[in-house]
Amino acid sequence: MTAQPCVLRLASLQKSYAIGPVTTEVLQEIDLEVKAGDLLSVMGPSGSGKSTLMHIIGLLDRPTSGSCCLNGRDVSKLDDSVLSALRNQHIGFVFQSFNLLANLTALENVCLPLVYRGIRSPEMKRRAGALLEQVGMSDRMNHRPSQLSGGQKQRVAIARALVGEPELLLADEPTGALDSETAREVMNLLLQLNAEQGITILIITHDPLVARQCIRQLHLRDGKLLEVKEQDPGATLPEDAPEGILPR
Ligand SMILES: Nc1ncnc2c1ncn2[C@@H]1O[C@H](COP(=O)(O)OP(=O)(O)O)[C@@H](O)[C@H]1O
Ligand SMILES: [Mg+2]
Repeated sequence: MTAQPCVLRLASLQKSYAIGPVTTEVLQEIDLEVKAGDLLSVMGPSGSGKSTLMHIIGLLDRPTSGSCCLNGRDVSKLDDSVLSALRNQHIGFVFQSFNLLANLTALENVCLPLVYRGIRSPEMKRRAGALLEQVGMSDRMNHRPSQLSGGQKQRVAIARALVGEPELLLADEPTGALDSETAREVMNLLLQLNAEQGITILIITHDPLVARQCIRQLHLRDGKLLEVKEQDPGATLPEDAPEGILPR
């Protein structure tokens, strides 16, 4: 078996914010390696730095120190315009609140990442239509977000995140705004995209049910990222683990 290429490598990554004289260290000495085809979850209490971590991985922010390598390239010191271009090519985002543009149709929303790449309109619509079909939304292409349910909006958002064929899909609480049945359907779609197409996915979640379905499970606590080993029979944290990161 050939080794899967490394999509993301974080080494001794640290992030702190200085407000006036006070410096808060949010992420401390984070190491992580993500291979193509991985499916990871990151859990952690509110304020533990999950979004900060996702913003750095998603090239929306830079670490204070340490390195963040995407496809073997250190991106930790690149300037904003280079990061934007790399983000458009390599990263897909899915958010809790969908972040669809209200005045565009589902098809037009999915086309957006390709508009920024300057792809011609017929080709753009062909690719966006194919993605909407994959997520089971081909009969809603001309609907606007207000005419869709929460689960349907998230399917459109997933199609938009994948239309540019990114190496990494980042999902911040993708099921957080959905009822439990719809959340299950959206999670099943993400699991299917990972299993059938090998899409590399990192999911930030508060939901232990979502986290447990991921092949690799990470916990962020006190600025440190811990991985729950797959072979651990209980696949949970030690009994003395602080409250807030134990499965509910
Ligand atoms: N731009 C910022 N400036 C200062 N502090 C910030 C900033 N962004 C986040 N923080 C702080 O970093 C910590 C982690 O925030 P965040 O990553 O949003 O946590 P989570 O997503 O896990 O709830 C919080 O204490 C927050 O106040
Ligand atoms: Mg957050």
